[in-house]
Amino acid sequence: MTETDRFYGRRHGKKLKGTRIFLMEQLLPRLEIKDPDGPIDLKTLYPFTPKALWLEVGFGGGEHLAQMAKEHKDIGFIGAEPFVNGVASLLAHLNGSWGRAANETRLLEEGRSDNVRIYADDVRKLFPFFADETFERIFVLYPDPWPKARHEDRRFLGPKNLKEIARLLISGGELCVATDVASYAVWTIQQAESSDLFIQTNEDIYQSPPDWVSTRYEQKGLKAGRRPVYLTYIKK
Ligand SMILES: C[S@@+](CC[C@H](N)C(=O)[O-])C[C@H]1O[C@@H](n2cnc3c(N)ncnc32)[C@H](O)[C@@H]1O
Repeated sequence: MTETDRFYGRRHGKKLKGTRIFLMEQLLPRLEIKDPDGPIDLKTLYPFTPKALWLEVGFGGGEHLAQMAKEHKDIGFIGAEPFVNGVASLLAHLNGSWGRAANETRLLEEGRSDNVRIYADDVRKLFPFFADETFERIFVLYPDPWPKARHEDRRFLGPKNLKEIARLLISGGELCVATDVASYAVWTIQQAESSDLFIQTNEDIYQSPPDWVSTRYEQKGLKAGRRPVYLTYIKK
């Protein structure tokens, strides 16, 4: 990453309390991918051999990631999110301890699959440590739109990241994008087309994919009258 690749989003929100602090201290270290100093050994990341690997970029509160991980126990998930409160929220979802005091015995309770690993930082720092064709699916849901023209280079799905995403996807692998900012949807379609790396596969961009899991962010947008756009791409 270069200086121009700095992360412009928020890293901290409200001060974490009780259970969330506990989960950050006790559960995160068990699931966290630390800044690597060499290629990430995917074979030792999970206590099982995943059928495939799926990556979620900027998982926000983690609703989508936690639910997908629950529904697809044979998949190894990696989620990246620099926003600390989002990481704590994902941990709460994974631990299933909403509103209750956690204790160690409840961490990843029996029956929960241990198939999520977390990078609590800018995913672009992690990209170089993955081999080509690592992921079967990559999710970029509601990326920060940076609507001002002078902030265009901050938008995640620009040429550089699209090239990395294409490198990291297996042949025929899928990039799933959602946005409720019309100008960002148009911009993304243009970026994907001019990259010549992807084929858009969904015809109705207003129809959510069959296995769609909605997030708090999406629900807030719907309540505010924003219309989600879904873009599904296959790597050429
Ligand atoms: C608008 S929020 C959407 C969150 C979530 N995907 C959802 O749908 O609820 C965008 C998220 O992307 C994260 N983000 C932005 N740039 C990122 C990057 N380079 N690596 C990882 N996460 C990033 C932000 O911290 C923020 O939480």
